[in-house]
Amino acid sequence: MYQEFAKVYDKFMELADYDEWHDFVSYVIEGNNPGGKTLLDLGCGTGEVLKRFLEEYECTGVDISEDMLLVTREKLNDLGKDVPLLCQDMKELSLDKKYDIVISLFDTVNHLVSIGDLEKLFERIKIHLNTKGIYIFDVVDRNFMDEMFPDGFFIDQREDMTVIWEHYFEDQLDCIETTFFVEEKEGLYKKYREKHIKKIYTHKEIQEAAEKSGLHVENIYEESSLAGERFFYVIKK
Ligand SMILES: C[S@@+](CC[C@H](N)C(=O)[O-])C[C@H]1O[C@@H](n2cnc3c(N)ncnc32)[C@H](O)[C@@H]1O
Repeated sequence: MYQEFAKVYDKFMELADYDEWHDFVSYVIEGNNPGGKTLLDLGCGTGEVLKRFLEEYECTGVDISEDMLLVTREKLNDLGKDVPLLCQDMKELSLDKKYDIVISLFDTVNHLVSIGDLEKLFERIKIHLNTKGIYIFDVVDRNFMDEMFPDGFFIDQREDMTVIWEHYFEDQLDCIETTFFVEEKEGLYKKYREKHIKKIYTHKEIQEAAEKSGLHVENIYEESSLAGERFFYVIKK
């Protein structure tokens, strides 16, 4: 997962306004745990959000994909920043530090494919949060998926890249097979393929998983201007 995709992720995300993501998350932090000093980006990907928090927080990045972390590492080196970046599965997170703020953005949590995995994640979060610490993550819901894939396909045609998404169900999970054609030289396209499996959680499932792990949902923000309708959860001990 996120191997081939790592090579084209930033290109694919060029339409995402990460400054706005940073500003929205800052607003959520301000409303729930102002004054925090340490931030962990869980599922940091290519580091676009992480790098925007470096001035304000002492940051750490974690991702399951070494290929995504490689991109982040290069970016942070170019910025002259020395930030701990670790390759770990978030549901087995094990760091020797606790954090004031933990974030998982751009539906990273939808990559966990069972309620058991979600509970494992929350258990790890509980261990890694300071007393007043908060975990902020966004998920997409069934409406989002239905609107994105009304006929099982979504085609994103750009000047120098075409992305074809094929959506189907497997064991009640959402499977998304993505094919990228990226222009390397004029008229010459390279093909990349990757499959992602996502689970769409209900609010009740998230709430119950949090409570089972000794956490609680402090707030839910519904946000539609960043990248379709998303639900941002704030979870606390
Ligand atoms: C949609 S990307 C989001 C990346 C980044 N947060 C952003 O906003 O651009 C999801 C990221 O979560 C990572 N990921 C998926 N499952 C994970 C897991 N179990 N543990 C840690 N990272 C995971 C992927 O490797 C990928 O980098």
